[in-house]
Parts: sequence; structure tokens; C-alpha cells
Amino acid sequence: MKIKRTIMVIIALALVVGTIYTVPPTRVSAAKRVKISAESLYINPGAVRTLTVSGASGRVNWSTSNSKVVSIKKNGNKATITAKKKGNATITAKVGKTKLQCKVKVSGKKVLIAYFSRSGNSKKVAKYIQKQIGGDMVQIKTKMAYPSNYGKCAQQAQKELEDDIRPKITTKVKNFDKYDEVVIGYPIWWGMAPRAVCTFVEQYNWEGKTLITYCTSSSSGVGGSAAEIRKLCKGAKRTKAFSAYDGEILNSNLKKKINKWLKNIKA
Ligand SMILES: Cc1cc2nc3c(=O)[nH]c(=O)nc-3n(C[C@H](O)[C@H](O)[C@H](O)COP(=O)(O)O)c2cc1C
Repeated sequence: MKIKRTIMVIIALALVVGTIYTVPPTRVSAAKRVKISAESLYINPGAVRTLTVSGASGRVNWSTSNSKVVSIKKNGNKATITAKKKGNATITAKVGKTKLQCKVKVSGKKVLIAYFSRSGNSKKVAKYIQKQIGGDMVQIKTKMAYPSNYGKCAQQAQKELEDDIRPKITTKVKNFDKYDEVVIGYPIWWGMAPRAVCTFVEQYNWEGKTLITYCTSSSSGVGGSAAEIRKLCKGAKRTKAFSAYDGEILNSNLKKKINKWLKNIKA
């Protein structure tokens, strides 16, 4: 009887111990892990990025190791950083005792974004691109404004294209030579770039520069426009052209597509 009870106690104990060791350790919920949205960035001067700390329950204290290279604007768990000039800076986000860091390298690459825009679509895309890759921006303006009436403007544009006219422009970029990378943005007019864009690009020496083009259109897409511009920019390194449609300006899907394109062409 005593032996039987002892055996029962041993079995019971074994069961309890077994249960304890087989219970999985409590999993730390992913949401509670404090994370920063990027741990390293390589950006051009003028580029603006947002860093986000997720999973933090307390206050986030942001700082930059060098505000002359990367400045910072704090907004709770987010910080908007702006690349100022070539160099390195570390962005630190402190949450309690946790220290999160993003190492930012600012390139010395000089970028120019030149766009032509009649009704604002190409301008909106230019502004978005500038936020992503930084750089200086200039609008290609004609000496004579195009008619505000669509039909009249379409007629004039058609005539200019047929006769391959170069309308006079007032835009002149000083020190074009200093730029390494030039973005040319324009709307599609009768399947091609407005002739003023040709006037603009033909003024400069493109040797050794990287040429990036994008267009906006209601439905046509790039067509032969990018090939024509490339031909006019002799000696420039070419990249894949981008096209945005009026209906998607500037929705989140288009922003994603622009980001992917810029990443692929290493802008
Ligand atoms: C004169 C003229 C010609 C156009 N031709 C075309 C065309 O051939 N194909 C097309 O898809 N859209 C065409 N469009 C529409 C524009 O390309 C489109 O609306 C573009 O996004 C306008 O850009 P913007 O707002 O920067 O001027 C034309 C617009 C104008 C004013």
C-alpha cells in the first residue's frame, strides 16, 4: 500500500515537472519591440526623409550628431530629417533606456530637377522627386505663355511639333556644369515633349552627366519622347524613363512607383 502511494506521488510529481518544462516561454509581442524605420540611409543633399519609431510606449527623444549635415524636425515618434551637405551624421532616437540609431551618409552628388508644366501635374511630380532625392529645382518657362484655352494651346503645340520649332525660353541655369545628375520632367504634348523642353536641353553640355526623364500624360505614356531627349543630350548617361498618368497624380501608389524607379536607377 505504502509502495503504491509512493509510486503515485512520483508519477504526479513527474507530470507536474513535465508540464512546467513543456510550457513555451511567453512570447514577446512584436508590437512591443521598439524599432526605427531605417538604420542606415544614403541620400543626396536636399533630400527629406521621415524616420518613425514604432512600438514605443514612452516619449521619443530625437537628436542628430551633426545638424550641419543632417537637420532634424521632431514630431513625437516621427522625425523629418533633411540632408544638408556632404558628410555623415547619426540620428538617435531614445525611448527610455533604449537607444535606436540611423546612420545617414549624405552624398556629394549635385542634382538638378528641371520641369515644364502647363497645368501643374509635372510640377507636382517634380516636387515629390525633389523630396526623395534632393537637389535644386527650376521650371522651364517660355517667353510667350501658352494659351490658357486647351484647344488653342493644343493647336499651337501641334504646329510647333510639326515644324520642330524651338520656342524661346526665359530659363537659364547658371553653373549647369556643377550638376552630376539632371532630371527633366514634362507633359506629353501630341505624343512628344513640348518643344520648349528641347530648347532647354539643347543649351547645355551633357557630357558625363546622368540624364533622368519622366513625363505625365492623360494616356499616351513616354512614347518616343524620352528617346528624342536622350538624342539631344549627347554624352549623357541614360536611365530608364518614368511615366505617370493624370489619374494617379499624386496618389500613394504612384509615390511607391516613383520611389521604386528612383531606387532602381540609383538616383
Ligand atoms: C497641348 C497638349 C497636348 C497633349 N497631348 C497629349 C497626348 O498626346 N497624349 C496624352 O496622353 N496626353 C496629352 N495631353 C495631356 C497632358 O499630357 C497631361 O494632362 C499632362 O499631365 C499635363 O501636364 P502638366 O499639368 O504638367 O502640364 C496634352 C495636353 C496638352 C495641353
